[in-house]
Amino acid sequence: MARITGGVTTSHVPAIGAAMDQGKTGEAYWSPLFKGYEFSRQWVAENMPDVVIMVYNDHASAFDLEMIPTFAIGCAEQFGIADEGWGPRPVPEVEGHPELAWHLAQSLVEQEFDMTIINKMDVDHGLTVPLSLMFDQPDAWPCRVIPLAVNVVVYPPPTGHRCYRLGEALKTAVESFDEDLNVQVWGTGGMSHQLQGPRAGLINSEFDMAFMDALGSNPEDLVMKPHVEYLREAGSEGVELVMWLIMRGALNAQINELHRFYHVPASNTAVGHMVFENP
Ligand code: DHB
Ligand code: FE
Repeated sequence: MARITGGVTTSHVPAIGAAMDQGKTGEAYWSPLFKGYEFSRQWVAENMPDVVIMVYNDHASAFDLEMIPTFAIGCAEQFGIADEGWGPRPVPEVEGHPELAWHLAQSLVEQEFDMTIINKMDVDHGLTVPLSLMFDQPDAWPCRVIPLAVNVVVYPPPTGHRCYRLGEALKTAVESFDEDLNVQVWGTGGMSHQLQGPRAGLINSEFDMAFMDALGSNPEDLVMKPHVEYLREAGSEGVELVMWLIMRGALNAQINELHRFYHVPASNTAVGHMVFENP
């Protein structure tokens, strides 16, 4: 059977991707950030998943205001590269896992999570920057990736509790797939940041630290947090953190935290990154 062996959380700041694409990772501004991923790159190389379920959000690259799925799963063979800002990154296309993705879609719908099914989609920095942070700049990504897109861009995003429950359903879904697969779930986005308005540039390290402290051992302290608390404490884009709760829900109740990194700032964002394994 397939099993979830671990989870990763990481911010997905587009400027990180641009720094890698433009050969700037050694610069004084960027090198402390990439140091924080050295452990994780080695860990993932030694614990290479067959499939990563990538919980991420699109930033109006594939969806726009005309269509806004709350939860969507990518069932395609391949996903092209798109982006806002700097434009499509020069990174490999993303290979999906249609058999597992369709199984997840069916199991999630049977568990009453009515997923939007996507058979053609390009993916942006929300998905490609975490891949680059963990796998550097290979000619082809070393594993398959199933995009699980969450609307955190247009109000109303799903609640943290709903996200956590989706993670739990994802665990059930993966564990009922009849093939030996090593699956990791990655939750991306966050931590505190606000990109627009009078509070643009907001960072709240105290909030971020408390969130990381609770995520591993007391996620129930986080799941009832209302949207307005994310907005007030972590800025308008800080609500991306509900995606970390999908990852957490998909892991065991007891997990081992292997690595934690926090860095302020990368562009306008407080970068948070954690690695967990299921014992
Ligand atoms: C930034 C962060 C994001 O999460 C994003 O989607 C776009 C920009 C930033 O800090 O610049
Ligand atoms: Fe974002």
